[in-house]
This record gives sequence, C-alpha cells and structure tokens, in this order.
Amino acid sequence: MTGQTAPAQPGAAISVDVPAKINPHLGVGDPRADGYHALSTVYQAISLHDTVTAERLGEPGIKLTISGEGAGTLPHDETNLAHKAAKLVALYAGIEPDVRLHLNKRIPVAGGLAGGSADAAGALIACARLWEVEIGDAELHRLAAGLGSDVPFCLKGGTAIGTGRGEELTPVAAKGGWHWVVATTDTQIATPECYKEVDRLREDGIGRYSSDVNAIVQAFERGASADELARLLVNDMEAAAVSLRPQLASLMHGGLEESALAAHVSGSGPTVLFLATDVKHAVALARRIRMRGGARSVHLAHGPVAGPAA
Ligand code: C5P
Repeated sequence: MTGQTAPAQPGAAISVDVPAKINPHLGVGDPRADGYHALSTVYQAISLHDTVTAERLGEPGIKLTISGEGAGTLPHDETNLAHKAAKLVALYAGIEPDVRLHLNKRIPVAGGLAGGSADAAGALIACARLWEVEIGDAELHRLAAGLGSDVPFCLKGGTAIGTGRGEELTPVAAKGGWHWVVATTDTQIATPECYKEVDRLREDGIGRYSSDVNAIVQAFERGASADELARLLVNDMEAAAVSLRPQLASLMHGGLEESALAAHVSGSGPTVLFLATDVKHAVALARRIRMRGGARSVHLAHGPVAGPAA
C-alpha cells in the first residue's frame, strides 16, 4: 500500500492493552545458519499487561514517552522497538508518521516476559488504527516477525506453539486457567547473552533440546490440573540463566520451600515464575515470597488471556 496520506484528526487517540508472555515449554535447538536458534516452544499470554497509546502529534515525527515500572531504564528514541514498529507501519502505508506514542509499563523490563515485544505489537496495532491503515493478518505477522521473534505471538495472545525462531505460530485451544506468582530480580539478562550461554554450556555437554511439545499441549487442551502442569514445565534456557545469575537458584528454591508447585525461569530470565494451585494459593505464596526477600517485585498473574484489545 503506497501513496496514502494519514487522515488528519489531531487529538484522536487509540489505546491498546498488550499482555506479557510466558513459555511453559521452551525447547532451544542449535543455532541456525542465520544465527537464530531453532525453537520448539509453547507461549501463553498472562494477565500482566502494558498499555500502548497512539495519538496524533499534529506534525511529522514519532515521539515516545514511557511511564510505569522501569520506564527510566528504557530507550526513548528510535532504538525502542515500539518506535521501530510505528515507523514500519508508516513505511508500509507510504505515509509520513505523525504520532505521539505512550507506553504505560506494568510488564517488568528485560525480564523474559516479552515486555519490549508486547510494546512493539501494541504500537503496530495502535498506529495502524490511528492512521486507518488496512493491514491483512499475514502482512501484520510479517511486519511483527521483522521486529522480533516474540512479536507475532504478542499480537495473538492466548496459547500457541512457536516454531522456527519462535515466530511460526500454531494456536492451542487451552481449557481453563493457571495461576502464577511472578518474581522479578534486581538483575537483567539480555536475550542474546542467554542464548550464548546455552551454546557455551552445550559445548561442555550440558543441556538438551526438548523439541517435543505434545505432552504440555495436550495438558493445556484438556485443562490439566496445576499439579500435572507443574511436572510438564520445561525451559532449556534455565541452566544458562542460572549460570549467568546464580542468585536465581536461591530465589527458586525459596519459592519451592514456600509451597510453589514449580519454579520456572521465564524465557531467558531473570524473572522466575512460581506455579500455584489456585488464586488463593497464589495470593498466600506471593506474600510468603515477598517476606523472604530476594525478589525485586512480586506479582500475581493468570493465564491464558486474550491478545491485544483496544
Ligand atoms: O528476535 P529477537 O530480536 O527478539 O532476538 C533477539 C536476539 O536473541 C537475537 O539477535 C538472537 O541473538 C537471539 N535469539 C536466538 N534465537 C531465537 C530468538 C532470539 O538466538 N530463536
């Protein structure tokens, strides 16, 4: 689509809520020729979300403001993935961008919860709506995948199998919901750093590729109990995350001692997820984990939740 001009409605604003993701199954294969690792993962959107608002700026440009948790640590310029997403929509539509983007952050930053990818997905949707750009599903998916491996899932929400580098999605009809305590830490782990550590550990013979997602997919489809899910959680990056940030091990053990059904590093970490039996258990567990110390912040979340909603 080219030659379109953005409809002029200064003051119009579109807000989109975009959930964080977790990977109840994260199987990591060897690096491919393009440097990305082959993945066999199951994504699930959870009830922590950022809000992305796009408003007409009234002049050409993309302005970005950020509030909420960790706002001060994020780039406010064109290196922010949400900024790139806005630019991509304008480029696709052949229009001059004219937007003030605001990110209200509740998803912990650089925590393995895809906060940056969620903001990018939100910016794609909000800018397309603001500028009244028609983008088909396949094209939106292509733009999202160009921004990052997790961005396509952030557009969709729910539960899905991810293959390729994570961007090829197959939806899963999960029945029911599961409750988590989400514990963030004072450190951060950059995603490439964690993948490099996976490779390094494999050279030493540590690690495996958990490519088979069938057991956990079937558990989600039949609405398995949290007890059963606890035994099926897999993260091939966990050893690497703990190797990079050994303090994660004591946080995980602490949560298990406090009755969590499972402790699971979220994506490439360093956020740790604790599985609870139900919401009541999650509330009690969160309180006990807070009291023990060792976590920067402790949140309650449940999943799956639907994807971006205006
Ligand atoms: O796709 P995305 O930009 O989110 O990936 C960030 C980095 O994480 C990549 O540059 C790559 O180093 C690593 N990565 C990977 N294999 C994947 C996804 C990400 O090695 N499947």
